Amino acid sequence: MKIIGLLCTLLIAGCIPPAELEQKLTGQQLAFDRKKGNCLACHRIADGQSPGNIGPPLSNLQQRFDNKKDLVNFIEDPTVFNPATSMPPFGRNNILTRQEIKTIANFLWTLPATQTIIP
Ligand code: HEC
Repeated sequence: MKIIGLLCTLLIAGCIPPAELEQKLTGQQLAFDRKKGNCLACHRIADGQSPGNIGPPLSNLQQRFDNKKDLVNFIEDPTVFNPATSMPPFGRNNILTRQEIKTIANFLWTLPATQTIIP
């Protein structure tokens, strides 16, 4: 009987979708991860390695946006604000989920107003 119990446990464990076993990524990880936001391809972000400079450095965003929701909306679809932008519409194109974008916005919102940006 014991072996049947063990087999049942293994069977149930096998049914848990891998996504739920995945660790939740932090806002910084989602922003830096090349398979997720890959924001460093275009933006300098504090502590980010080898950033590109197609977009402006992402700091001081509390000065640039009235509130966090506006920041989330911008990341969801920057073409609403500038149809000619080269920034991908992360939400509209389903590159990131709304929840992932919110997590990134929470992270970006915490970045200091002034930071040393080495050119
Ligand atoms: C292909 C390049 C590219 C990528 C990748 C990219 N951006 Fe941008 N981003 C831009 C450009 C260019 C701008 C300047 C705004 C414009 O074009 O109108 C910008 C502007 C912004 C702004 C507004 C900054 C300000 O001070 O006005 C925010 C916030 C932003 N990006 C967040 C992000 C986040 C978060 C990611 C990753 C999830 C990201 N971007 C990925 C190109 C990019």
